[in-house]
Amino acid sequence: MSCNFIRHNFFVWIAFGCLSTMPAQAADEAILTVHADQSGPMISRHIFGQFAEQLGSGIYGGVWVGENSSIPNVRGIRSDVVAALRELKVPNVRWPGGCFADEYYWRNGIGPIDQRRASYNKNWGDVFEPNTFGTHEFMDFVEQIGSEAYISVNVGTGSAREAGEWLEYMTADQPTALVNERKANGREKPFKVKFLGIGNESWGCGGALSAEAYVERMKTFAMVARNLDPEQSGASRFIPGPDPMQRIAVGPGDHNPEYTEAVMRAWKGGGAYSWSIEGLSLHHYTSGELGAMRDPATGFGEHQYAILIKNAYQMDKFIADNAEVMDRYDPDKKVGLVVDEWGVWLSAMPGTSPLHLKQQNSLRDAIAASIHLNIFARHSDRVRMANIAQMVNVLQAMIITDNERMVITPTYQVFKMYLPFQDARLVPVDLIAREYREGDTTMPSLDAIAARDADGKLWMALTNLDPNRSLRVETRSFGVAAKTARGHVLTADRVDAVNSFESPNVVVPNSVEVGAVQGRLILDLPSKSITVVSVEE
Ligand code: AHR
Repeated sequence: MSCNFIRHNFFVWIAFGCLSTMPAQAADEAILTVHADQSGPMISRHIFGQFAEQLGSGIYGGVWVGENSSIPNVRGIRSDVVAALRELKVPNVRWPGGCFADEYYWRNGIGPIDQRRASYNKNWGDVFEPNTFGTHEFMDFVEQIGSEAYISVNVGTGSAREAGEWLEYMTADQPTALVNERKANGREKPFKVKFLGIGNESWGCGGALSAEAYVERMKTFAMVARNLDPEQSGASRFIPGPDPMQRIAVGPGDHNPEYTEAVMRAWKGGGAYSWSIEGLSLHHYTSGELGAMRDPATGFGEHQYAILIKNAYQMDKFIADNAEVMDRYDPDKKVGLVVDEWGVWLSAMPGTSPLHLKQQNSLRDAIAASIHLNIFARHSDRVRMANIAQMVNVLQAMIITDNERMVITPTYQVFKMYLPFQDARLVPVDLIAREYREGDTTMPSLDAIAARDADGKLWMALTNLDPNRSLRVETRSFGVAAKTARGHVLTADRVDAVNSFESPNVVVPNSVEVGAVQGRLILDLPSKSITVVSVEE
């Protein structure tokens, strides 16, 4: 017998031989055991966060068109993009970068738009940066889509004083010179800043600092970049307020744990009375056999599909490795791991600048997104937040625009289907699934998570990674007598299918409903598909 089943439980996969006692039908396909009588950690809605960098057409054209544009807008922010993002209940948006953040001077982006100091975007193609989209415009955008602000301050080329003043400008309510300036610029009450990134990739574009050098700078920034809004912070830095801002230090890119070690050692050695952090960042991008900026976004074959999908699982190892280091310093898991840059990084769309990172988005990328969201959910005891890179027109985008045209990507559809998992409680599952093999690349054909939402409703997300074969999944639940499962399935004819301006509905979800037989659900997952269902008990 050539069984090659793979068991996939909460955190690990174990390859094992064929179980001859398994029912014939399930032995061909997959069994999902849902421990609905047990409850895991909460899946923070913030793992569905997004990233909008001042890069290419991520902001200019994608979000900001200006008040005088013929594209419908509210105070310069395009209305079609806002409407689409509102539907995703985006929990937080990271801005202004990215590499851009460590060369950003916030004062260039305030005041009357026609008097703003223009500059260069030296990270992303040396293009002209008009600074017409600055603090007020970003905050307006966040408020229009009903999200929260994650501001990344400039550690690489800026000073702690500048960061402190920016925070005072945004969040204070006393009549200081900076607050009066904010009011003169049109904003009476403080802006809400829920998250603060202290630098970006400080080991790379954010200053090329050693871990030790970064930690010394970071401590001062964590101390002086204070949120002064009385509705958020306490009366002093020693007393936490009702809705404290979360400070996120730079952590590793991929697998280099030096930053994790150095930051966590400093945190444990503790500041407590002068500085602290609540999160540590991790960045990791997925690509296929050719690497970032080179793998084709469409027109790839099964070999390239399989390698990229397999590579998506590297995220699990990077999280596990860094969580292990964090556990040594922080066994109570007070500091969250924040994966504030993730996604597939492919070659740029023909006719666009490679440094503007505008790439096509296919069904394969939607499948990679579901894998990442499942990994974050499984690690939700430590992973408290994540930000897909990026929101509009850059890398694995939710939305692609071209002048007045806009299209929703397959990745957007996954984020929409996963809405019930925001702040739901993880339910442990065990998986036994047929193997998918392409050449030397093998993986289980099924990935799945389950969770209960705030109303107690059980939800399951199931991804069939196999691009060629449908998968029959028998679910066995403890603590639940399933009657029906209802939800949506996302698939298409080809793994490289995309939504285009001309054909926007190629990769869109369809309704699905199945009845249970003796409390067991049999779900037939189409090849290369993502299914999210709620279970009626
Ligand atoms: O998301 C694009 C870039 O990737 C970011 O600016 C940087 O932080 C990362 O290297």
